[in-house]
Parts: sequence; C-alpha cells; structure tokens
Amino acid sequence: MNHRTEASTLPRHVAIIMDGNGRWARRRGLPRHAGHRAGVGPVRAAVEQCARRGIEVLTLFAFSSENWKRPRDEVSKLMTLFLEALDREVDALHENGIRVRFIGDRSQLSHALVSRLAAAERLTADNEALTLVVAVSYGGHWDMVQAARAIAVEVAAGRLSPDDVDEQCITAHRALAGLPPVDLLIRTAGEWRISNFLLWDLAYSELHFTDRLWPEFGEADLELALEAYRSRRRRFGRTDEQMKVGEC
Ligand code: FPP
Repeated sequence: MNHRTEASTLPRHVAIIMDGNGRWARRRGLPRHAGHRAGVGPVRAAVEQCARRGIEVLTLFAFSSENWKRPRDEVSKLMTLFLEALDREVDALHENGIRVRFIGDRSQLSHALVSRLAAAERLTADNEALTLVVAVSYGGHWDMVQAARAIAVEVAAGRLSPDDVDEQCITAHRALAGLPPVDLLIRTAGEWRISNFLLWDLAYSELHFTDRLWPEFGEADLELALEAYRSRRRRFGRTDEQMKVGEC
C-alpha cells in the first residue's frame, strides 16, 4: 500500500496559530489594533485557499484564554473586530458552502457576540465545502476541563460508568468532537510554541513554523506549509518498515 498517495498527502485538517499582528503594526509605527485589522484579509484568503484545495477543516486560533490579560482597550477592539468581520463575512461564507463553528469559553464573551456566533453556526450548519473552526476565548486546558466536567455529569447521572472513560470518550467530548484529527499545525511569526492551543488534538499533528508575520501570510506561504507536510513521514508510533508494508 502506498502511503504517499495524493489524497493522503493533503492534510484533511489544518490549524493555524495566527501570530505577529502586533509586531507587524509596531514595525510600521501603528497601534496594535491596526495589526489585528490587517490580519483579517489573510484569514479570508486562507479560508478561500483551503476550500479551493479540498481541505476539510481549517481551525484558526483567534483569541486565547490568556489573551484576556491584554490591555482592556486591545481586547475590546479585538472583540469589535470579530463582530464586524462576522457580520460582514457570514453571508459570503454561507454562499460558498462553508460551515462555521466556534470553540472556546462563551461565558466570557458579550451577549451580542455569543448570539452572532450561534446564528452563524445555525445558518451554515448544513454546509459541506469546508468547516471553518474559529477558536475564541479558547485554551487547551479549558478544553480538557470542559470535557472532564461533561463526562463527570454523565457519570453522576448514571449514563456512563467510570470504566467507560477512555481515550475515545475524551475525544468525543473535546471542543473539536466529530471533526478529523489535526494533521498540520502552522504557527506564524517565528515562535516555536503551542501556547495552550489544541493540546489533546495536536498529539500526532505535523508542526510547521514560519517567520512570516500573520498580516503578511499569503497563498505562497500556505502552499509552502502544505509542501512541507507532503514531505513528512507520519508513523503514528510505528516503524518505517511497518508503514512501507501498510500495517496500519
Ligand atoms: C496574535 O498576534 C493575534 C491575535 C491575538 C489576534 C488574531 C486576530 C486576527 C488575525 C484578526 C482576524 C481574525 C478573525 C477570526 C476575523 P499578536 O497580537 O500576539 O502579535 P505579536 O506577538 O506580534 O504582538
């Protein structure tokens, strides 16, 4: 069995840590929020490119659990930016068959944003071209906690026994439940960290780091990341020999 067929060399699920907006702005003598605004175009371009390339899921880290610690003005401008971008883009996303899903702790978000997120999810729920997951107020630790709490509720109600709590059970309660595993994680702006993003989900992901700042991340950069992914040998704990004879 050939493990390098075209289908298997295109990631099904790509996740991106969009970093470097602040540095992009600082280098131009602009306020940080100008960098975040400049980051919207590359989001749109990456969504279009992934849909065109036949990637099934694109997950974007837009705002982390820790980003709440940023200056109040920056947080407030980012929330406004998310609302505006959602209002502006949701119809086009829907027309292009894109399903939108949000992951993260909604209890921290404004009522206005929560209701817009839910409305966008409802509107696009049956679309099949690409699933766009936007992580807002998201942290990998939060994800584990919410999964553990949901499982505890099931156990307390007698619907699950403690023996049912295995890897499959936790996988089914994560924020990304029901979606294919993350094949490729890209992080921009030269940082080599996971920063509390999808901890459970990144167990076997290929990692790609680029120095490009997010506002400058373009089609060629995503193609480079896909190219790098194609050249990786994914063994999932097995040996090269096992992978050659197709023992999987
Ligand atoms: C990290 O760069 C970026 C963010 C915290 C915000 C990401 C938001 C966008 C790209 C805006 C558009 C998003 C959507 C989903 C419409 P940073 O501020 O940490 O950069 P720095 O490390 O250079 O300071």
